[in-house]
Amino acid sequence: MKMITVIGSMNMDLVVDTSRVPENGETILGNSFYTFPGGKGANQAVAAARLGGDVHMIACVGNDGFGTELTRNLHEEGVDTANVSYSSEKSTGIANIILSEKDNRIIVVPGANYELTPQMIEGLRDIIKMSNVVVMQLEILPETVKAVLKFCDELTIPVVMDPAPAKYFEVDMISSIRYITPNQYECEQLFGLDLDEALEMYPNQLIVTLGKDGVRYFDGEKHIHVEAIQTNAVDTTGAGDTFNGALAYAISHQYALYDAVKFANAASSLSVEKLGAQSGMPTKEEVEARLAR
Ligand code: RIB
Repeated sequence: MKMITVIGSMNMDLVVDTSRVPENGETILGNSFYTFPGGKGANQAVAAARLGGDVHMIACVGNDGFGTELTRNLHEEGVDTANVSYSSEKSTGIANIILSEKDNRIIVVPGANYELTPQMIEGLRDIIKMSNVVVMQLEILPETVKAVLKFCDELTIPVVMDPAPAKYFEVDMISSIRYITPNQYECEQLFGLDLDEALEMYPNQLIVTLGKDGVRYFDGEKHIHVEAIQTNAVDTTGAGDTFNGALAYAISHQYALYDAVKFANAASSLSVEKLGAQSGMPTKEEVEARLAR
């Protein structure tokens, strides 16, 4: 049994590509506009499924066009969407993304993502029980995240947690998390420590992604640094999600931690080569080819 359950957000990404970001009160003309399926949860589910994972999504979308489109997209990617529910109260979550100067700025409006309640999780215990890895992020209600962590803790199901947005992380969550994967900025926000100190405090548990500087963790004796693979980045949106989805895939297939991190690092280097969070997510063969390069 190698089922990966992702419990998290599904958003429609409304992406504007612009040469610069406007000042307060200023109107400028952008270069292009796109809509892409996104949401950290859905992105992580697609990343794991494209690698060949058996992935189940638990999420909530609105009863609207975006909700239908996002669910269909996940289904076409091979993700089990039987437990994506539809809210009649709130519209589907969206992310307003500004791409400028090779970076992105994102505002998420959670909408129906905040309709996924602890009570709904209660009703899905039998599904969660079948998972050998659960993946979460923080774009859903904190109480829902806590309910899942408590349940996974009781059943000793490993949880991969992408603590983003970091503001919603609570430090006492950490004891129920097997792997936590902030970027460097989020790591500082979460622990208020310098990078080395934070890594040493959570050996083999805290894995920090550093963008073009790769990935670091502490193995209990020494600091491990997996270097980034140089690539031609077109859009970094979803790179962290690809890392998490691939890490979950590797963990569910019993890779050793170092191999899992290398695999996820290579997957994420491929994901940035196309526009849109999910477009560049690789297959397992593509990751292995990159690792062999
Ligand atoms: O991590 C990238 C994702 O963050 C985007 O797809 C957007 O929807 C936000 O959730």
